[in-house]
Amino acid sequence: MALKTIDLTPCIGSMVETDVATLVSGAASAEICELVQSRGVLVIRGLDMDDETQLAFTRTLGPVLDEKSGEVYKVTYDPRESPQLYFYTPGNFFWHIDRTDSQMPPFISMLNARRLSDTGGDTSFANTYAAYEELPEADKALIEDLQVVHKVEASYRFVPNLSDEQIAAFRAHEPKVHPLVWRHRNGRKSLITSTSGIEVIGMAAAEAEALLQRMIDWATQPQFVYRHRWQLGDIVMWDNTGTMHKAEPYGEESGRLLHRTTVLGDEPFDPERTLAA
Ligand code: SIN
Repeated sequence: MALKTIDLTPCIGSMVETDVATLVSGAASAEICELVQSRGVLVIRGLDMDDETQLAFTRTLGPVLDEKSGEVYKVTYDPRESPQLYFYTPGNFFWHIDRTDSQMPPFISMLNARRLSDTGGDTSFANTYAAYEELPEADKALIEDLQVVHKVEASYRFVPNLSDEQIAAFRAHEPKVHPLVWRHRNGRKSLITSTSGIEVIGMAAAEAEALLQRMIDWATQPQFVYRHRWQLGDIVMWDNTGTMHKAEPYGEESGRLLHRTTVLGDEPFDPERTLAA
């Protein structure tokens, strides 16, 4: 089946024109998995899926995270909606790859726009394959073998007014070490850049932080970025192994609510380290 697509920028993001029945049937799932890897982000408008349908579609793409609960994860910044989610949501406002606190990150994350903010609340995505490929050769040589320590607490270091409870919870996560350059089994390389990355093994702290920030700044230049302005009913999915993302600011009282489902990954950040673990 050849899906109709329109590129949203030259480097990242495509709009796919299809319907709920096609998606849930699984007839297009292989093509969607290929497209999301080659374009980083796919947008499908006007679907208005309920949770059950979203889960059914997600299932056609691979094993689903937390499938047993039968519930989708709610992305909200409204403490009345869920104090527990509110606790973690501020980390979403900074560039990140999902689950750098694990060795095996998710493959596809999917968001379904259920309620929108009147102002703000776009979601931005950066193509970490293209960002690596376009690096000057001197930078490629500099970072080729670097190993980076990722900490959950580092993801929140720019968030003001964290509570003691939040700080303690974030610190309780074990740090993880990942290469700065991801050598994918498809033969390509991408950057593993995320606000969680805070130390480089064998490098002075200030130098490491400056280098990691420089890599994020590089990877989030306009030519590598797609910024999604939400419409109700949109489904947006991205390849978490080849992109970073972040939420653009919106208010706690805005009511913005996105329902997220996640396809588990099977490509570790570092195959050698995962085998050794
Ligand atoms: C996320 O970071 O997973 C959510 C992004 C958003 O709320 O736009």
